[in-house]
Amino acid sequence: MLAGALRVFFIWLSDRRFLGRMAMATPLVRRMPFRFVAGTTLHQAVAAVRALNTTGASATLDVLGESVDDRASADRAAAAYVAAIERIAAEGLDANVSVKLTGMGLDLGDEECLAVVAPIMEASDRHGIFVRIDMEGSAYTQRTLDIVERLRAGGHDVGPVIQSYLHRSVADVERLAVERVRTRICKGAYAEPPEIAHQDRGPIGDAFVELVCRLLEADAYPGVATHDTDMIDRVKAFATERGIGPDRYEFQMLYGIRRDLQRQLLAEGHRLRVYVPFGTEWWPYFMRRLAERPANVVFVLRSLVGDRG
Ligand code: FDA
Repeated sequence: MLAGALRVFFIWLSDRRFLGRMAMATPLVRRMPFRFVAGTTLHQAVAAVRALNTTGASATLDVLGESVDDRASADRAAAAYVAAIERIAAEGLDANVSVKLTGMGLDLGDEECLAVVAPIMEASDRHGIFVRIDMEGSAYTQRTLDIVERLRAGGHDVGPVIQSYLHRSVADVERLAVERVRTRICKGAYAEPPEIAHQDRGPIGDAFVELVCRLLEADAYPGVATHDTDMIDRVKAFATERGIGPDRYEFQMLYGIRRDLQRQLLAEGHRLRVYVPFGTEWWPYFMRRLAERPANVVFVLRSLVGDRG
């Protein structure tokens, strides 16, 4: 009950951009997210990716930023992605990128958004680097899937994210499975009403496994994005039972979360990709991580008080 209320509260905070701006201007608070964020610069993010690659993990780089409502800011965000792709290619890193369309001006209209992402597509095509399109709140689900479809029709190597809490996801995954679209499955990190989304862990988890298994059956190389050991075990069991090798899917986890489990999966011979966010616009991302696990607040406060070095 309390955890549910805190979840809603932190998701509400994630939408309060003025609080984010205030927080980012406060020196002590500015240090808060650094367990979950690789740094503020591309240089720091690249160092994190290099370290992950050394352990055998691949990465996906996320330039933090979302809900941009002017073209100039969206173009700047796209340029940051182009720079990230160029660095991945120049350094031969095992990494791709994850992009949020609201950070690319989706609120300005679909055509505007497509124009903003065009340079990212050009760079990713040139270097053969896959682009994941993250999924945001349900107001954007259909438009995000439509844009992914249009980018794919244009020959670009992109794939969407599907959230298992949404009822519509069964039908969405069925369509993606038929076309063997490389899709990430996650539980979903936004607050959605019961009319459109499961609210309880059980059905969200069951749907998660069902969606992943459908994509495994279709040989669509799903990204299994969770830190939930029960989900991971169920996916592993399905793959073993069907003789589906570990090269036909990858587990995905967030930077700084369940590093023990990340190491364990790699040691077992599984593929693992770590989502590495960086940049100064960390407020909404950080609030969603607190929403998933309110106990993180204690962790963060302790690190502020006890570890100022
Ligand atoms: P669950 O929340 O049950 O967590 C299982 C265990 O993991 C917890 O018991 C805890 O040990 C650990 N854990 C989970 N979250 C933690 C946290 N914040 N801090 C510390 N420990 C934590 N969502 C979305 O809507 N759109 C998207 O595009 C993406 N993209 C994405 C990419 C990747 C690589 C991942 C891993 C996740 C996403 N998500 C996402 C987020 C996802 O929807 C979901 O909110 C989180 O993964 C948390 O759910 P879990 O499946 O990990 O289970």
